[in-house]
Amino acid sequence: MASAVIIDGKAKAAELSESIARDAAALLASDNLRPGLAVVIVGEDPASQVYVRNKKRTAENCGFHSVQHTLAPDTSQQDLLALIDELNNDKKIHGILVQLPLPRHIDELAVTQAITPRKDVDGFHFLNIGKLTAGHSSDAFVPCTPAGCMLMIEDQLGKDLSGLNAVIIGRSNIVGKPMASLLLQANATVTICHSRTKDLKNVARRADILVAAVGRANMVSGDWIKPGATVIDVGINRVEIEVDGTKKSRLTGDVDFASAVQVAGAITPVPGGVGPMTIMMLMSNTLASARQAVSRD
Ligand code: GUN
Repeated sequence: MASAVIIDGKAKAAELSESIARDAAALLASDNLRPGLAVVIVGEDPASQVYVRNKKRTAENCGFHSVQHTLAPDTSQQDLLALIDELNNDKKIHGILVQLPLPRHIDELAVTQAITPRKDVDGFHFLNIGKLTAGHSSDAFVPCTPAGCMLMIEDQLGKDLSGLNAVIIGRSNIVGKPMASLLLQANATVTICHSRTKDLKNVARRADILVAAVGRANMVSGDWIKPGATVIDVGINRVEIEVDGTKKSRLTGDVDFASAVQVAGAITPVPGGVGPMTIMMLMSNTLASARQAVSRD
């Protein structure tokens, strides 16, 4: 049976890392400026801790100035906003990321909107969302996960997606909605599906580009996929499996890889697909922000 091209996000991210590190070194040499990233985490969610550690390590590998603020789970919203204010005014910091989700007593919207749009490397500020939605993505910070997905889609299909049907499963602000804006800007015909969509499987089967971002392990199986489609799996789900009688945990996507790989034209694996590209887009946004700071000052 046919087998899809496996899109190697890890290898692509490693290539990008080299070029970002080179560009950061050049900026340091020409303007004595090191791109600076501040990552803030509130509480002890284990998955968030892993993500934040990866972001910090990757920033260091790119030669960035990298700081992490780890705040207690009961930190008040006021204290978090005070830290953001400090980082907004810190000349050494060009990107601020507050890891989500936040503890329930903190209003996520108040926090994401308090980060100055100039340092909003997550692309969550309304100004950046507005620019992206209005088709001015070159002038916006684009959310990292969809930006990384888009680069992988372009590698497979080129920059112009005219005539292609793109279906996104999931309507989140972090992935689904910005992904739709990017695909639309590239001339794809875009459908966003969600929990209320009727006959999801048959909608998915019309997709030349299928982006799964729902957070349900292995939901999309091979019979949901149009033969030859490009499948981007954004899901990172931890599932328990039994190996030789012992329980182990394993990461799996929203796509059932074993059946999907038989039908798709190209597919991202989990892990090693979207995840590494997401982190690299954060570095790319931080470098862009540092460059903007140089041209402003
Ligand atoms: N939590 C899960 N994904 C993200 C992301 O892209 N940015 C932030 N800040 N938190 C997240």
